[in-house]
Amino acid sequence: MKMTRTIQHTREQIKSWKKDGYSIGFVPTMGYLHEGHQSLMEKSIQENDKTVVSIFVNPMQFDNPDDLKNYPINPLADMELCDKAGVDLIFSPGVDEVYEKGFCTFVDMSVLTEELCGKSRHNHFRGVCTVVNKLFNIVAPDFAYFGQKDAQQLLVIKKMVKDLNMDLEIVGCPTVRESDGLAKSSRNTHLNPEERKAATILSKAIFEGKNLIESGERNIEKVVAAMKSILQTEPLAKIDYVEIVDGNTVQKIETLQGSVLGQAAIFIGKVRLIDNFIYEV
Ligand code: PAJ
Repeated sequence: MKMTRTIQHTREQIKSWKKDGYSIGFVPTMGYLHEGHQSLMEKSIQENDKTVVSIFVNPMQFDNPDDLKNYPINPLADMELCDKAGVDLIFSPGVDEVYEKGFCTFVDMSVLTEELCGKSRHNHFRGVCTVVNKLFNIVAPDFAYFGQKDAQQLLVIKKMVKDLNMDLEIVGCPTVRESDGLAKSSRNTHLNPEERKAATILSKAIFEGKNLIESGERNIEKVVAAMKSILQTEPLAKIDYVEIVDGNTVQKIETLQGSVLGQAAIFIGKVRLIDNFIYEV
């Protein structure tokens, strides 16, 4: 496995692979890798000749400076996980390499970014779109892999690729969970044992919402209310939002039809957790 820290070295490696006719799969990450990230790598390795993983904690997508400061890192464990998975190249640049002094160009998306997490995380998706666009320009992948765990991010990236005619395909991958249902996340590490136990309430609410729709409930308010009442049984959980929206556009819907996205965000102490379900009605 190779590792690059500069854009130039990354491009040189990619160019030489492309010259040999290899297809490139790409998994962008912010590190502190777990089985969720690993599942994306495995899919990319299955479907491509070469797999590139980027590890870059992108300051531009954090609206809260403390959140950025406390973002967990473990470069050695990350390298080991990538190596074992069979990744070909890790691109791990510093902030100055990605954002040169005077950087002032941004990818700003409307509509899709204004709902759900966009409401409570100001400019978050502008930071995500800008960095992912840059990474796509550097790595020039044929396929890029994103988790359903961040459903709104997946939809936003797909839309950016379509709207800007980018020449690659985005592949969505299912959420990987702990055995008690909690979606794997780098943020789980900030939960103390009591909070970690409490956090399982989120997936319980998500599963209940999906079950209700699966078993025929078509009243959105009733489903949202049932999900909220489950979350309210956990004293350590503070609800940020619970919503059911259109599964393609993230816009509010009146009736449950087509692809729907049910998503909830909660705070357990200072840790913000999200989870979701997608269902075809
Ligand atoms: P990060 O949170 O490190 O996640 C990297 C990728 O792993 C994302 O596509 C995310 O959806 C996926 N992922 C995380 N947890 C998962 C789980 N439990 N199951 C399946 N996939 C999971 O998302 C980001 O980084 C950043 O916003 C990034 C796209 C890298 C831009 O900075």
